[in-house]
Amino acid sequence: MRLSVQPLIAAPRIQRRVAELGAQIRADYQGRDLVLVVLLKGAVIFASDLMRRLDNNVCVDFLRAASYAGTESTGEVTVRTIPETPLSGRHVLLVEDILDTGRTLAAALQWARSQQPASLAVVTLLDKPSRREVEAKADYTGFTIDDHFVVGYGLDYEQRYRQLDSIHVLEHE
Ligand code: IMP
Ligand code: MG
Repeated sequence: MRLSVQPLIAAPRIQRRVAELGAQIRADYQGRDLVLVVLLKGAVIFASDLMRRLDNNVCVDFLRAASYAGTESTGEVTVRTIPETPLSGRHVLLVEDILDTGRTLAAALQWARSQQPASLAVVTLLDKPSRREVEAKADYTGFTIDDHFVVGYGLDYEQRYRQLDSIHVLEHE
């Protein structure tokens, strides 16, 4: 089976939206220290652009919660790598690439809550609400998309395509 990629969201449109999200987050967290907890690996490119739109009061750490193999979720999600930064009493913003079934975010939120942050919120670049299986909502969303498997701008299919600077739909021909 051959794979092809079709453009969905062009790079300049992503950059404009990331700038808007940055402005909104900057305004909402004015005067407060913020810890960005980036979900590995898919959210790394989004987070690196987003954090350059934020103020000096931001620091960054990483969390890995994974279940995905190929295009189908295996259902069970475990938190495999936790941030070094203590989150207790801090304002925490989870940075996710895409909300699909919601299981990854639900697991990450459950773990983050157990650290007793002062506040906990979520920013996701993409949301596919039609695929939701468990309750999971973002406070900030870049783009809401239909039920496509997408790659690029950090998102992968079997670890490939992350380097594309725009978002594409992956199709099996
Ligand atoms: P969920 O746990 O089903 O919500 O899936 C979230 C995770 O699955 C994301 O962090 C992605 O890593 C991966 N994922 C879900 N949909 C896509 C997609 O369309 N392209 C690439 N990865 C995806
Ligand atoms: Mg992922």
